[in-house]
Amino acid sequence: MVKDPAAESAASHELLTAKGPRRASAAVPCVLGKAQPLSTDGRKDVPAGIGLGLRYDLARELIDRAPSEIAWVELHPENYLRRGGAYRAILDEARERWPIVTHGLTLCLGNESEPSGASLAETKNFLQSVGTRWHSEHLCFGGDDQSLVHDLLPLPFTEEALSIVVTRFNRMRDAIDCEFAFENVSYYAPQSDDGLDEARFCAEILERTDGKILLDVNNVFVNSKNFSFDPRAYIDLIPTERIVQLHVAGHFIRPDGVRIDTHGEQICRDVFELLEYTLERTGPIPTLLERDNNIPPLDELLREVQALQTIYERATKRPREPKEPSTHSTRLA
Ligand SMILES: [Fe+2]
Repeated sequence: MVKDPAAESAASHELLTAKGPRRASAAVPCVLGKAQPLSTDGRKDVPAGIGLGLRYDLARELIDRAPSEIAWVELHPENYLRRGGAYRAILDEARERWPIVTHGLTLCLGNESEPSGASLAETKNFLQSVGTRWHSEHLCFGGDDQSLVHDLLPLPFTEEALSIVVTRFNRMRDAIDCEFAFENVSYYAPQSDDGLDEARFCAEILERTDGKILLDVNNVFVNSKNFSFDPRAYIDLIPTERIVQLHVAGHFIRPDGVRIDTHGEQICRDVFELLEYTLERTGPIPTLLERDNNIPPLDELLREVQALQTIYERATKRPREPKEPSTHSTRLA
């Protein structure tokens, strides 16, 4: 497993992020929050536009300033479940200000074991309480109900793994009673030659589940560089009507050229370009800036959000051409 050295020094009060576990602080101030009613159906619409992850390190300033650049926020239920005090206050105040989208970290879709009824019921109740329009989990192995590996480990792109993922996806979607999506992850171990390529693996899950995908554009790019495939051909293979949300983030380049998905750097130009290519095809769908490590001052993050907004508007205002189903391989010659 490759570690980002910068991640080790990042201070955070969150138990978990998409880039690994975090310490919970014993010095969190206790602030009582008051739940506010949601819209009539208990859910708020998520506007198209740029969202930001509701990280504890940023949350207080973000809530107090409520910058106009941020259209919605994403949070991990695991960081709020069974927690009161300041966490409850942040959650309640965020609900008043923005639509919330949830993104799970622990019920990974490649886990072979059956998810426990208690975990699913707790998740369902939480999702309803924050009024998310959809929920997502990672397309990876993350442990089982008894133990977590605290990492997002890759799956083999095989028929056996497909069967596990499809079964678990359907089980979880039924249990949480909510629109459900999986997210493509970054990985660093090469696949065997006898499986599908990654894009076809994702497309096959969508086909067999009739589900949705949270497409992480940075993960597509990082994997394409590390394993030599065409990221645009990957995007072309994913049915655009199934893409419910996008993620974009920065990554780190090691001296040996390997790209590491850290969520700890600024977004690079190549990822901006791939995002624009994607948005030209999807039209305006919610796009999240993920920043979990080396979190800069809010004003600096907002400048990156503004850069995203410029690309978002440019890409989604262009007339879209009807897309032919792709039959070509993502493999580069
Ligand atoms: Fe992501």
